[in-house]
Amino acid sequence: MKHIAIVNGPNLNLLGVREPHIYGNETFEDYLEGLRMRFPDVDIEYYQSNVEGEMINFLHSCMGKKQGIILNAGAYTHTSIALADAISAISIPVIEVHISNVLAREEYRKTSYIASQCVGSISGLGMMGYELAIRYFM
Ligand code: DQA
Repeated sequence: MKHIAIVNGPNLNLLGVREPHIYGNETFEDYLEGLRMRFPDVDIEYYQSNVEGEMINFLHSCMGKKQGIILNAGAYTHTSIALADAISAISIPVIEVHISNVLAREEYRKTSYIASQCVGSISGLGMMGYELAIRYFM
C-alpha cells in the first residue's frame, strides 16, 4: 500500500467558506472523503496547519513513512525559503498543488519558492489537482 500525505497550508482550513468564487464551495473534509473512496489502495494522511513551522515539522515527520507528499502551501508558497529547504531535506517526492491558477492572479502569486524543489506543480484545476497528484504517485 502507498502511503501519501496531503499537506494544506494557511487558510485552507476555510475551504468551502473562503472566497468560493476562487476556491469553490466544497470543504476539504468532504472532498477527502470522496478521494479516499476513489483510492482504496492508497493510505492518505491529511494534515493542515496555518503555522509555517508546524508544516515543516510535519514534513520532517514524513521521512521514512511516506512515498509521496502533495503540498498546497497556500501563501507560504510565495514567501517561504524554510519550506523549500524542508522539501529538499526530506528526500520524499513532493507535488505542489494550487486550487486556483496562481499564474493568472496577482503578480506576487507568480513566484513559488517551493516549485524548484518539487517534482512538479499542478495549478488551476480546482480540487482535482490533488487527485491528479495521487495518480502520479501510483
Ligand atoms: C492557493 C494559492 C495561493 O496563492 C493562496 O495564497 C492560497 C491558495 C491555491 O490553492 O490556489 O492560499 O495555494
